[in-house]
Amino acid sequence: MTDTAPTPDQKLQREFNRWAEEGQGEKMERHHLNITEKTLRLMDLRPGERVLDLGCGSGWATRLLARLVAEGPEGFGQVVGVDVSDEMIRQARTASKEFDNILYVWGSAQQIPWEENFFDKVLSVESFYYYADQERALAELFRVMAPRGRLFILINLYKDNPYSLQWVES
Ligand SMILES: C[S@@+](CC[C@H](N)C(=O)[O-])C[C@H]1O[C@@H](n2cnc3c(N)ncnc32)[C@H](O)[C@@H]1O
Repeated sequence: MTDTAPTPDQKLQREFNRWAEEGQGEKMERHHLNITEKTLRLMDLRPGERVLDLGCGSGWATRLLARLVAEGPEGFGQVVGVDVSDEMIRQARTASKEFDNILYVWGSAQQIPWEENFFDKVLSVESFYYYADQERALAELFRVMAPRGRLFILINLYKDNPYSLQWVES
């Protein structure tokens, strides 16, 4: 019997399941809150909007988004959190039980498990540089975003994170 090599998404799933089990999901809030708050102001979120949090981790930013879009004349805003780590998704669901307007879905940026032309805005915090095929991830984002949708990708370059540095040379 031959073992097949794991796909890039399976590798990421394992890596981030381990992070989640070590409690890193919640700790990331401390590291990423500052830049996320600045971005939330730029996003100009309105009640009733539909927002995707791509690479949502344990869901702390998803919950901030959900509060900002909750109720409005256009109806009840909805936030969808997507992550390749099923353990992160499990933790995010557990921590978000009191929210009616959040849905967490296990899936990859390489094939976003959602319908086209749906989201008014997308937030992705410290996740994009992990994606094996970033052009495909962008194509997927444009597929699920509504016409005139807006996309906010947050990235820090960490000296000790080779994923984050892969663009520097190019
Ligand atoms: C550094 S963490 C950031 C999590 C969260 N956005 C935060 O700021 O706390 C990166 C996240 O991206 C997710 N991720 C990595 N590759 C992914 C992919 N291909 N599709 C979806 N999520 C992915 C990981 O599972 C992980 O939860």
